[in-house]
Amino acid sequence: MEDKSTNRGEDLATSSVVLGKKAINFPDKVKNPEPGSARVIAIVNQKGGVGKTTTTINLGAALAELGRRVLLIDFDSQASMTTGLGIKQLQLREQYGSIWYLLNDPSANINDFILKSNVPGLDFIRGHEDLAAAEAAFVTEIAKEHKLRKMLAPVIENYDDILIDCSPSLGTLTINALTASNGVIIPMECEYFAVLGLSLVKKTIDKIRENTNPELEIYGILATMFERKTGHSRDVLELIAKEFPDELLDTIISRTIRFSESTVKGEPVTTYASSSVGAISYRRLARELISRGGAK
Ligand SMILES: Nc1ncnc2c1ncn2[C@@H]1O[C@H](COP(=O)(O)OP(=O)(O)O)[C@@H](O)[C@H]1O
Ligand SMILES: [Mg+2]
Repeated sequence: MEDKSTNRGEDLATSSVVLGKKAINFPDKVKNPEPGSARVIAIVNQKGGVGKTTTTINLGAALAELGRRVLLIDFDSQASMTTGLGIKQLQLREQYGSIWYLLNDPSANINDFILKSNVPGLDFIRGHEDLAAAEAAFVTEIAKEHKLRKMLAPVIENYDDILIDCSPSLGTLTINALTASNGVIIPMECEYFAVLGLSLVKKTIDKIRENTNPELEIYGILATMFERKTGHSRDVLELIAKEFPDELLDTIISRTIRFSESTVKGEPVTTYASSSVGAISYRRLARELISRGGAK
């Protein structure tokens, strides 16, 4: 006979349980962040629709719930992170106030561009569709890979975690994000073809280590859109676990409509549906990240 708590545990899929290993628990009580400059984390995958933006918003919100000071950067011209945090189309069109403007005007003060979300402690800098043009515009610039890192320098002491929501490409913008970061989280849809794309992400990270940021770490691969019923998700998870045993995170994000709903509402799932499996999973991810050393 199955009791209710077991069922709940099953809803909250984890790599160890799905793969038939011993369940892992991460302590509810986490250590306070170390004082000093923020840990910068790029959320990267060259494939679109894999949960990068959803992870940035909800991991950010979960870290803020733990009392950390968090800044999110919308580094994708689709600006879906900005929309997901409640900024309306009209305001989104304005260049001033966006990351695009900041990158292009060295005299602009980053502090004037920081917005507050509905979650205490969770700040963000909004995106802009013109960011797509940056890919081409930066090509001839000297030290173009370091633009974002320099831009963040004045506020790095004010935060514990800075999360960068990257665009679905491994172009100049993502290279900027990786150059500015201490570590990377790679959200990966539980689909077979997604596994093939992983080696490309890893190659890019190796190049970054060789050229602009030798300290760059991989904090983990996050399996997203997991579907318990199909069996295919489980096969994909097994494959990732085999090829990338150290990188696969124990926390898994299951497929649920709650994420799309919360985007429409313009808030994280952690506030929109606070006790949903999605919210609980991202809170667990925050604690896993801290216990693995990927957040200070
Ligand atoms: N675990 C999930 N289950 C169901 N839908 C999801 C999940 N994660 C994200 N989504 C939805 O899928 C779409 C793509 O997710 P998104 O985070 O924007 O991906 P990316 O930033 O990689 O393009 C969005 O509509 C989002 O609401
Ligand atoms: Mg996105």
